[in-house]
Amino acid sequence: MSGDSHLPKALQGLRIPAVASPLFIISVPALVIAQCKAGIIGSFPALNAREGEGDHPLLDTWLTQIREELDRHNQENPDRPAAPFAVNQIVHRSNTRLERDIELCHKHKVPVWITSLGARKEVNDAAHDCGGIALHDIINNFFAKKAIEKGADGLIAVAAGAGGHAGPQSPLALISEIREWFDGPLLLSGSIGTGASLLAAQAMGADLGYIGSPFIATEEANAVQGYKDMIVDSGADDIVYSSLFTGVWGNYLKGSVENAGMDPDNLPMGSVKDMDFGGDKEKPKAWKTIWGSGQGIGAVKEVGPVSQLVDRLEREYIAAWERLQDRMK
Ligand SMILES: Cc1cc2nc3c(=O)[nH]c(=O)nc-3n(C[C@H](O)[C@H](O)[C@H](O)COP(=O)(O)O)c2cc1C
Repeated sequence: MSGDSHLPKALQGLRIPAVASPLFIISVPALVIAQCKAGIIGSFPALNAREGEGDHPLLDTWLTQIREELDRHNQENPDRPAAPFAVNQIVHRSNTRLERDIELCHKHKVPVWITSLGARKEVNDAAHDCGGIALHDIINNFFAKKAIEKGADGLIAVAAGAGGHAGPQSPLALISEIREWFDGPLLLSGSIGTGASLLAAQAMGADLGYIGSPFIATEEANAVQGYKDMIVDSGADDIVYSSLFTGVWGNYLKGSVENAGMDPDNLPMGSVKDMDFGGDKEKPKAWKTIWGSGQGIGAVKEVGPVSQLVDRLEREYIAAWERLQDRMK
């Protein structure tokens, strides 16, 4: 991509303006490596790397593996090098591994740090100290300002319709309010399933799109076949917005809620006190049984390799741009 020289180096030169977002359980090294090799930033939550008691930190192993594989690719393909990778830190008091995970990311000089659920200056400082940049995800303008005050370099605006934890605001409103005062890196998260939507994100003022759910239906994703198939078979009508499962409002596949014996149209409210990212206390229901997904999955028609999905997004992005140019003649 040209025209991105205003962005930090780590966000420049992508094949299409996109970051593949971190997905709890689903984003594993195979997925991240495929995303980066396809030319977009790949990412994973640090908490996905869970070792057994007393074992060597799996995050250390994963970071070595990702670095080595991408280095090898770059040596063999100097004409189309891989995009950088990102690691997501859940900055919440129940994440008891945060300090250790920050140290490991610092040691491996992770180029892009993504923080969710809490903005902390020390995390941004650690990213900067090893030459990285820090992007913080927010659901409204108030938290956006706080994140920048605490030293984040860029923002991920998580709008209505995003998979997993999602905000209630229209992307049009959220991006334009943030752009009134912030001219740094701005990513849009929520329902981007086509290259045309990616172009729309840029037209409304975002620099990059942040795409999650479509990557669940890829061969490299760590998701059971039933989940991948449900993404292919579902559309926006099949998504329910609920706070029941983690205490934070988020979007889930209605089919998975029904399979768990609940009525997706009559779900009670959850409590924010239920949020727990501690050690190995993985929530059995949210994510594993109740499957997260954004509304933009209508465009996902098959399960295929990551490279095929990124090829499609690129084709659609270029076609949308050509269509618009024609209309402006
Ligand atoms: C199954 C699932 C798991 C997710 N896990 C995380 C996570 O661990 N950390 C995080 O910051 N965001 C997480 N997200 C949110 C995504 O990073 C991103 O905001 C969202 O997927 C974008 O919307 P989209 O799915 O409509 O493309 C998750 C989303 C989904 C669908």
